[in-house]
Formats: sequence, C-alpha cells, structure tokens
Amino acid sequence: MAAAREHWGSRFGFIMAAAGSAVGLGNIWKFPYETGANGGGAFLLLYLLFIVIFGASLILAEMVLGRASGRNPVGAFRLLGGGAWPGVGYLGVFTGFVILSFYIVIAGWTVAYMGFMLDGSLMSSTPEAIGAQFGGFISGGVTPVVLAGLFMAATVAVVLGGIGKGIERASKLLMPVLFVLLLVLIARAVSLPGAGEGIRFFLVPDWSKVTGATVTSAIGQAFFSLSLGMGALITYGSYLPKSTPMPGSAAIIVGLDTMVAVLAGFMILPAVFAYSLDPAAGPGLTFVTLPVVFSQMPAGTVFGFVFFALLFVAALTSAVSLLEVVVTYLVDETPLTRRQAALGAGLVCFGLGVPSSLSQGAVDIQVFGMDFLSAAAALTDLLLPIGGLLTALFVGWKLGPKALALVTDEGRQAFPLARVWLFILRFVAPIGIAYVLISGLI
Ligand code: PHE
Repeated sequence: MAAAREHWGSRFGFIMAAAGSAVGLGNIWKFPYETGANGGGAFLLLYLLFIVIFGASLILAEMVLGRASGRNPVGAFRLLGGGAWPGVGYLGVFTGFVILSFYIVIAGWTVAYMGFMLDGSLMSSTPEAIGAQFGGFISGGVTPVVLAGLFMAATVAVVLGGIGKGIERASKLLMPVLFVLLLVLIARAVSLPGAGEGIRFFLVPDWSKVTGATVTSAIGQAFFSLSLGMGALITYGSYLPKSTPMPGSAAIIVGLDTMVAVLAGFMILPAVFAYSLDPAAGPGLTFVTLPVVFSQMPAGTVFGFVFFALLFVAALTSAVSLLEVVVTYLVDETPLTRRQAALGAGLVCFGLGVPSSLSQGAVDIQVFGMDFLSAAAALTDLLLPIGGLLTALFVGWKLGPKALALVTDEGRQAFPLARVWLFILRFVAPIGIAYVLISGLI
C-alpha cells in the first residue's frame, strides 16, 4: 500500500459529498418522469416505502464496510469476507461504469440547455416547438457526443483533485446552492394556474396503474437515487475517520436525497398539468416541461439558465462519485496512480457512452429491444438491487454481530437502533428485494 489514506476534512464535508453523490439526475430528471410514466402517487408511495425499509439500512451497511476496511468495494469485501465475496465488489465497479457511461450523456444535455436558455432559442416557442427542439437536439449526432465528452472531462478534473481538494471542496460549495435554487423554482411551479391537478396526480395514489413493472421501477429508482448497491458509499466511507458517527450521517443523506426527489416532483408535475403536457412523456419530461415554464415567466432566461446549471452541478457531484469508485479501486488494487486511473477510466467510459448518445435518434442501436441508453439504464435498475441484496446478506450474516461492533466503533458511539438495523439486513432486505425482483420479472 502507498501513502496513508486521505480523509474527509469534516463530517459536513463528507455529508455534502455523499449527498452530492445521491442527489443528481436521478432525483431531478429521472424521478419526475418515472413518476409520470408510472401513474403518479402510487409510484411515489412505493419509492418512499423502499427507501425507508431498505435504503437507509443499506446506506449504513455500505458506509460500515468502507470505514472498517479503508478500501475500495473489491478490497473491502476481500478484506472483511474473502472467498467469493470480492465478486460483489467487482459487480459494483462494473455497475458504476455502466451508469457513468449513460449518465454523462444526459448530463451533456444539461450543458446544451444552458446554452439554449442563454441564446433565447426556446423563449418564444410553443410547447410543441420546445418538444421538437429537444427531439432534434438529442438525435443530432455529434453535438451531444461532444458535450458528453466535455462533461466527462469536468468529472475527471474534480476526481484528479482527490478527496479533500477535489470532491469535498466542490460539494461543499455546490450543494447548498442547489437547495436554494430548487426552492425558488418550486415556488413558481406550484403557483401556476392549473397546478392543482398535477399536485393531486403526484400525491393521490391510483393503484389501478400499478403493475409488476411499476414495482421494479420503483425499487430501481430508490437504489439509483440513493447511489446504492454499487459501492459508492463503501468508497466514500473508506475515507471516513474513525471518529465520525455513521447512523446519523446516513439518516441525513437519505433525508436530503428523498427531499430533493419529492421537491423535484413538486417542481415538474404541476407544470406538466398546468400546460397540458403528457406526464408519461418519458426521459424528455424535464427538458421539455421546464423550458415551457421558463418561457412563460418573467426573467425566465435567468431562471432557466440557473436551473440547467444546477442540474449540471447535481449531475457532476454524482458522476464524480461514480468515477471515484472505479478510480479508488484502480489506485488501491493496481500500480496505477490516481492521475492515470482517472484519465484512463474516464476515456474508456466515454467510449461506452458514445453508443448511448447516438442511440437517441442519430443511429439505430438496439439491445434487448431497447435503444442502447435505455438498455444500459434498465440494466442498472436490475444490478443495483442485486448488489444491495448481496451487501445486506454480507453485512447481516457474514459479518453478523461483528457489524454491530463496527457500526458503533466497538461500542464507543451510541446506536439505539442497532438490532433493528441488523434484523433488516438479515431478513427484511434480502427477502424483500428478492421478492420485488422476482415478482417484477414474472
Ligand atoms: N444517485 C445518483 C442520482 O440520483 C446516481 C448514482 C447512482 C450515483 C449510483 C452514484 C452511484 O443521480
């Protein structure tokens, strides 16, 4: 092993970085359109249910693995479990790689939309024209690919700075700004005439719309949004000093992430109904709906630009955590330096992102009957819960009571819910996740 492992500068810094990982496109882009496509309130309830019963406990389980081992996901499972367990770590690193490859594509769109807001090209348009411009842009070929590449470069730049000077510093600055802007935009959206119907759609469950696919999407969304099931929190946890109490930090991270998703629902769904757009429009929902709102509000150019800048920021802090999983793995386990690992992984991942980007209309690239990007996204919706299930089994059974000692730093830190936590990891999470996955597939 090389030099001593770097640590987060403060608990606040860690929480901002972990919340920065969790809060991302998953909350502001994916959650509202999944909710729209899956019938509204029922999806929201299932999502919240999965977060409460699996999410919070698993976040803590990952943090424990990271801090106890001081290693990347593969190293953590090897050190604490041995045998075939490092396979779970490899699965996580692979999943992170797949997510990042399509994540940079959507994040690249946010860059384009910052430009569209500034040059005013969406400002005087009708909702139909704004929709057409979105379709035209994403199927445009070269430009979206270049923007994904630029976004990847920005991600690599932060990761090159390391934990304290790169990730922690960026997150502490960017996350608070994000929260303030969200509040401003929600105030606008919920006061639109006709917003009430959207709020009702979001909050009142319509169980007739719920199918097996809805339930699988909700569990996938819960894991994706919390950055759970691929070792992001093992990785960030591995830079935690022993003194940091973990259960409280986990609760704050889960709370912030869930709050932002719900707030994003309140920002987007009322506007969808106020302007008679289709809530089931899919991935374009945020990119079409909000520009319609901006085009009709005073100082819309400014708000619109700031919104897409913030979506960019939210995406950046998440992408950084995805890349950091791969980079921490390479630095811990191979002779590569951080610089070589970040540049190399960034480049290869960008290469995998190119077909995702082109599959949005420029070229017909199909996998499993879906375009390449949707297939990558669907694959991660499956891999993350599987990773989470295996992590629960590992911490609940393989570590077992030892996990209780690790989470409380040998009893030095209080954790009144420790036994409930272990019970969830042993029984509730494995059985529940398996049940949801299997029933969803049938
Ligand atoms: N949680 C991020 C989001 O909501 C995505 C992500 C998934 C990041 C897994 C890291 C690991 O956008």
